[in-house]
Amino acid sequence: MKLGFASFVSTAVAASAIAGARAACPDFTTFAQTPQGNPSSGPLALPYMRPSPECRTFNSSAVEKVVEDLKSRLKDPDLARLFENTFPNTLDTTVKYFNATENLAFIITGDITAQWLRDTANQFAPYHVLLAQDKELATLVKAVINNEARYVSEYPYCGAFQPPPESGLSPSHNDWADGVTVNPPVNNQTVFECKYEIDSLCGFLKLSRTYYQATNDSSFMNTNWFSAIDSIFQVIWEQSQATFDDNFNLVSYYNWTGGNGALSPAVPNGGNNAPRAYTGLVGTHHRPSDDITTFSFLTPANAMLSVELSHIADVLDATHQAQNVSKLARQYSSTISKAIWEHTVVDDVFAYETDGFGSRYVMDDANVPSLLSLPYLGFLDTNHPAYVKTRKVVMSRGNPYYAARNFSGVGGPHVDAWHPWPMSHISAIYGTDSDSEILNSLYTIANNTGGLGLIHESISIYNGQYTRPWFAWANSYFGEMLLDLAQRKPHLIFTDGKPYTPGQ
Ligand SMILES: *[C@@H]1O[C@H](CO)[C@@H](O)[C@H](O)[C@H]1NC(C)=O
Ligand SMILES: *[C@@H]1O[C@H](CO)[C@@H](O)[C@H](O)[C@H]1NC(C)=O
Ligand SMILES: *[C@@H]1O[C@H](CO)[C@@H](O)[C@H](O)[C@H]1NC(C)=O
Ligand SMILES: *[C@@H]1O[C@H](CO)[C@@H](O)[C@H](O)[C@H]1NC(C)=O
Ligand SMILES: *[C@@H]1O[C@H](CO)[C@@H](O)[C@H](O)[C@H]1NC(C)=O
Ligand SMILES: *[C@@H]1O[C@H](CO)[C@@H](O)[C@H](O)[C@H]1NC(C)=O
Ligand SMILES: *[C@@H]1O[C@H](CO)[C@@H](O)[C@H](O)[C@H]1NC(C)=O
Ligand SMILES: *[C@@H]1O[C@H](CO)[C@@H](O)[C@H](O)[C@H]1NC(C)=O
Repeated sequence: MKLGFASFVSTAVAASAIAGARAACPDFTTFAQTPQGNPSSGPLALPYMRPSPECRTFNSSAVEKVVEDLKSRLKDPDLARLFENTFPNTLDTTVKYFNATENLAFIITGDITAQWLRDTANQFAPYHVLLAQDKELATLVKAVINNEARYVSEYPYCGAFQPPPESGLSPSHNDWADGVTVNPPVNNQTVFECKYEIDSLCGFLKLSRTYYQATNDSSFMNTNWFSAIDSIFQVIWEQSQATFDDNFNLVSYYNWTGGNGALSPAVPNGGNNAPRAYTGLVGTHHRPSDDITTFSFLTPANAMLSVELSHIADVLDATHQAQNVSKLARQYSSTISKAIWEHTVVDDVFAYETDGFGSRYVMDDANVPSLLSLPYLGFLDTNHPAYVKTRKVVMSRGNPYYAARNFSGVGGPHVDAWHPWPMSHISAIYGTDSDSEILNSLYTIANNTGGLGLIHESISIYNGQYTRPWFAWANSYFGEMLLDLAQRKPHLIFTDGKPYTPGQ
């Protein structure tokens, strides 16, 4: 998620035990807008942008080792600097609260003081390879999962949350939630924003299963976690239903009406958005950008859901738990996958959204899950004909939210059609085997950081102006992608051309 143009100023008070000595630390939103340390020795001369050690919110020697390893091996000092700034960014800046005894952690997105289910899953994605080596980092991730299990079990329709009461941190006021009426109703001391986005729940599933895969530790599966899982299946069932039943009764389990503070105008049909017919797909009100969907069935979010349900079934089977849930997860995973192929693809092109009545919206939005990121999500291979063709459409004028001039890429209505997002190029790199396409996307990103060496939300094709100086997810995604290239395409980036796996 993201809110446009760094205009959002959080009002939360930093008061946790771990923040005690940090009163003198600069606010990273401000810090990130001016070049700080020495520039890199490449042509881009990117500044060192990590906060000073005493201002970092979590220290991991395993993460520092990866940073040093890559710095010594990358050919291009500008890429080395980008990695150094971005890979640790989540740990350097976003851990607002962590107490291992309580098994609770509160992680912010960057410039917004709230914990987004989607963002945290993405922010921690690059560190999973290190969890077996760094027990404290693993404990932190487990504490994030546990905090989110509480949120999801109580408010499965919501995606962004306030600090846990144990933290002593004050809730933040969300201007964008002013004047919004949401059903089921929420308590704003717990919920920061209650837009319903199915991929938020996928984020929780993904964080849980990647933690398990990295550690073999199933102790996160406590009562809250199983309760969260039950809530997720309730939402999946409710949101697979058509708008009307056989007697034209309105089927509404969740509705959201925009008011003065909302990003979008009032949502039609009593906050239910556009009508939909049953297909087996799961509807979603909002996109991963937090914008309202045009048609309810968001293809890439369903693809992610299908993938994550099958992973969570594997984890439950491996730990011999909740066979009823595992069975249900596999059924839904297969129903959703079949429905994607049957209802969203025409002439090998996926629609971004459909409604079950035959309407298709051919576009893509940069926020992951996106069509461009289908291989990253694990839904299909980069060389699948439907992906190859869809990718061509999405990275061209065939996509209303593609734009190219000084900067290029896929954006979305969240900012506007002439601000593509660097994130789209990261997804594009995951989606190709072509060295030239990879290098082109990599340097489109590197050349366009506003001289700051951090990954921003979006960049104007007209004047290079960027939005969101501090966007932890984008930084993490860049670091994750470079580690992927370190294994997949070492000859492109390393002096010695040999593959690199963290911790080996
Ligand atoms: C990280 O390490 C630095 C010393 O290098 C220390 O000042 C800082 O308090 C540590 N941060 C945390 C969250 O422990
Ligand atoms: C963590 O929480 C426990 C239990 O509430 C408390 O006793 C302890 O002081 C906390 N630790 C820190 C570092 O805040
Ligand atoms: C919660 O809602 C109440 C009533 O609308 C409002 O006065 C208060 O400022 C809100 N609190 C936060 C943290 O947004
Ligand atoms: C909104 O959702 C609630 C359930 O959360 C439901 O009872 C109500 O009928 C819905 N209202 C409309 C207008 O759809
Ligand atoms: C987890 O268990 C599998 C299967 O027993 C094993 O191959 C793997 O090395 C284990 N991973 C860790 C981090 O212990
Ligand atoms: C699975 O079974 C458990 C124990 O009977 C029950 O509490 C839970 O609600 C079931 N979950 C689902 C998703 O059916
Ligand atoms: C990046 O900038 C360099 C130096 O100006 C230029 O040679 C290169 O073509 C640019 N790459 C891309 C993909 O824009
Ligand atoms: C954009 O590109 C044009 C030429 O293609 C150049 O004159 C202009 O300075 C560039 N603007 C920025 C902000 O890079």
